[in-house]
Amino acid sequence: MNTQASFQILGICGSLRQKSFNLAALRVAGELMPPGLKLRITGIGDLPIYNFDVQEKGFPASATRLRDEILAADALLFASPEYNWSVGAPLKNAIDWMSRFQPPDGKLNDEPTRKIMTDQMLAFEDWIKRMKRAFA
Ligand SMILES: Cc1cc2nc3c(=O)[nH]c(=O)nc-3n(C[C@H](O)[C@H](O)[C@H](O)COP(=O)(O)O)c2cc1C
Repeated sequence: MNTQASFQILGICGSLRQKSFNLAALRVAGELMPPGLKLRITGIGDLPIYNFDVQEKGFPASATRLRDEILAADALLFASPEYNWSVGAPLKNAIDWMSRFQPPDGKLNDEPTRKIMTDQMLAFEDWIKRMKRAFA
């Protein structure tokens, strides 16, 4: 855990669109952070579609890179579009990959999480709660 003076928040955007509203919202959130809080935005577009066959051969570098970024962060801030009443596929895919790391590497259990949605979406909160329970 970093000190209060350098509390690191990892921003994860669920949209891969270059002109994404969610990405813009994350960037604005980063600019509005009070002193002592720092937001760094990471990408999830390089994760392959989750496949257990791939996992069995070894986690892809993109998955371990995201896992390491999550481990290094003090908190996570998600921003995702709603796609068909659910969380968008890129973010769900990232959650699927991260859920395959076992404790102590699966850290979504104790990471403070907040979300920004450009639309209403309750299912995502359920997912986060389930993830936290799964790794508690
Ligand atoms: C495949 C698809 C499904 C969508 N489904 C919903 C939906 O169920 N409810 C909703 O309010 N908006 C829906 N939208 C609109 C997006 O959530 C909205 O455009 C969002 O702001 C896009 O985020 P972005 O700008 O970060 O890419 C959908 C858009 C797409 C492309």
